[in-house]
Amino acid sequence: MDEGPSITGRDVVTLDTFSAEEIRSVIARARRMKVEGHGSPLRGRSLAMVFFDPSLRTRASFAIAFSTLGGTVIDLVAGRDLWPLEMREGAVMDDVADEHVRDAARVLSEYADVIAIRALAREGDWAQERRDRVIVSFQKHATVPIFNMESVLDHPCQAWGDALTLEEEFGDLAGRKIVLGWTYHPKARPLAVPHGVSTMACKLGMDLTVCHPAGYPLDARVRQSLGHTAASSGGSIRYVEALDEAVDGADVVYAASWGSTDLHGRPEKERALRDAHRDRRLTTDLMRGTNAARFMHAMPIRRNVEADDAVVDAPGSLIVAQAGNRLHIQRALFQAILGA
Ligand code: CP
Repeated sequence: MDEGPSITGRDVVTLDTFSAEEIRSVIARARRMKVEGHGSPLRGRSLAMVFFDPSLRTRASFAIAFSTLGGTVIDLVAGRDLWPLEMREGAVMDDVADEHVRDAARVLSEYADVIAIRALAREGDWAQERRDRVIVSFQKHATVPIFNMESVLDHPCQAWGDALTLEEEFGDLAGRKIVLGWTYHPKARPLAVPHGVSTMACKLGMDLTVCHPAGYPLDARVRQSLGHTAASSGGSIRYVEALDEAVDGADVVYAASWGSTDLHGRPEKERALRDAHRDRRLTTDLMRGTNAARFMHAMPIRRNVEADDAVVDAPGSLIVAQAGNRLHIQRALFQAILGA
């Protein structure tokens, strides 16, 4: 059976490093595995997951995907299981960190066939945060493939699973209208999902509208890259402020909330800006203006804050299917990356 282009041994840190053909071939593999089953091709292989931040869907889907393919999983929580890690190259380690990421990554590579990391932003300046130091350090020092389980900049496995969900709904996604709509959330949420979903939409030739209030643009370099990707895939990208304008005629409305990069590290100022948009949520009225759009969200979702119950629980809501497909895309990805 033709498995498509090989991606064996690659890191999965952003969809940006994969071609549309590679993305589609993993989706096709996941769809086949959903129908035909999967056996135990990862017997004798092991996955080390390292969490610097909480997770439900990602933790459960990674662990269950790997173990149901026959492999062994270890789940390490930073701050509980790991020694405090030093990330700075050449640091004189006379402060709180007991171990350097260089050593932790190399040692974990001795035990595990793949390492997966979740590490979100702290409270630093965006120019520093966007360097994604934790995942980049593990990538640099590990000798096995690295999976990004959500970092400062990206959440590729979420986006890959979302593409699977959309393909199951629509078939070919080229030319479909998707809106990434900023909604209010009481906390400044990461930019990883918005970046990942936008990259996926542009790679697969969708017509993407990114809709957010003033002060909430996506990361500038990501925007630049999205423009190039959309141009080369035959898709398009536009930016608008008003939600009702954005959702007009949309096939998909993907709700997400994210923090201001300009005010990153200045939480009081950021909160003041965000609180001016408390009423910005997906309502049934807004969804009426769409092309019977599917509603998507990566979850966890704040009901009746980000979207009304009536939208979240409507027949066109895909949020549970999205979460479910995290498992199926993960099985396909582990098989493809490990060449199993
Ligand atoms: N969507 C997602 O990544 O969910 P978790 O944060 O619960 O893993």
